Amino acid sequence: MKNEPILIIGKNGKTGSRVDLRLRSLGYETRAVSRSTSPVFDWENSATWQTAIKGARVAYVTYHPDLALPQAEDRIKEFVKLARENGLEHIVLLSGRGEDGALRAENALKESGITWNIVRCSWFNQNFSESFMLQGILAGELVLPEADTLEPFIDADDIADVVVATLTEPGHKNRLYELTGPQALNFAQCVNEISEALSRPIKYTTVPVEDYIHALREQGESKDIQSLIHLLFTVVFDGRNSNVMPGVEEALNRQPTDFKSYIQKTIESGVWDDVLQKVSA
Ligand SMILES: NC(=O)c1ccc[n+]([C@@H]2O[C@H](COP(=O)([O-])OP(=O)(O)OC[C@H]3O[C@@H](n4cnc5c(N)ncnc54)[C@H](OP(=O)(O)O)[C@@H]3O)[C@@H](O)[C@H]2O)c1
Repeated sequence: MKNEPILIIGKNGKTGSRVDLRLRSLGYETRAVSRSTSPVFDWENSATWQTAIKGARVAYVTYHPDLALPQAEDRIKEFVKLARENGLEHIVLLSGRGEDGALRAENALKESGITWNIVRCSWFNQNFSESFMLQGILAGELVLPEADTLEPFIDADDIADVVVATLTEPGHKNRLYELTGPQALNFAQCVNEISEALSRPIKYTTVPVEDYIHALREQGESKDIQSLIHLLFTVVFDGRNSNVMPGVEEALNRQPTDFKSYIQKTIESGVWDDVLQKVSA
């Protein structure tokens, strides 16, 4: 088993990179792929999929940009069919909470005949440090569409620990783990906590969602990203995902990382150093 590569789709992603690191440090061979790897794996080009799959029996799959988008269901259906035909026996799928599209993609995997795990997650802490909110944190003003919804942000390190458990340990097959952090916070509270920990004011500004989408369009963001942000802030952020879930404890027998611990380790990682330099300047 350790000699067969574990396929990871999303090598450079927030979770794929962490899963890859953990598996390799445990002695597993991995084949972590994305558009910039060899072999190439591109969700937009199904001709690239088979080479990536061949020879692997187990896979961690992250879809890009998001399972909530309408095309995701068909892509996941096509992928799991090809995976089964090419000898994949178990797939762990990263999913999102409260999204109809994600639910349809999850069902496509469950009905595929391959054994599965669904790791269904709340918003990631790392959106503030490795994704679209980083720039605002560094700039000292985070601008977002209006939303005071409470979200129990989950840490990507916890997600990776759960994924690795499902890929390598017995007793997890065909289980859905719904992962959240231990406490729900709104964006204003998150920004406030980050700002206090960095000892630097960071403003949280909200704009109507249409204005935000307009700005994304001006910046040349893809239509997919525009639709995704629209869907998240007009539909998914209606409070349906505010409840805390016990998925981390169910899978790992420990509590999830809290937001303060996330902030501390992120400060130590240096990713917010620009902010720190501005403070000391
Ligand atoms: N962020 C959240 O809060 C959140 C919450 C719940 C669920 N999710 C789910 O998380 C998934 C994303 O996982 P993640 O956050 O670990 O990854 P990620 O950080 O979004 O992955 C980014 C990587 O995806 C690769 N990529 C971009 N386009 C691609 C394509 N067409 N084909 C293949 N790879 C492509 C890029 O690498 P290359 O440039 O090398 O291709 C990029 O570095 C989504 O399905 C989303 O639904 C996210």
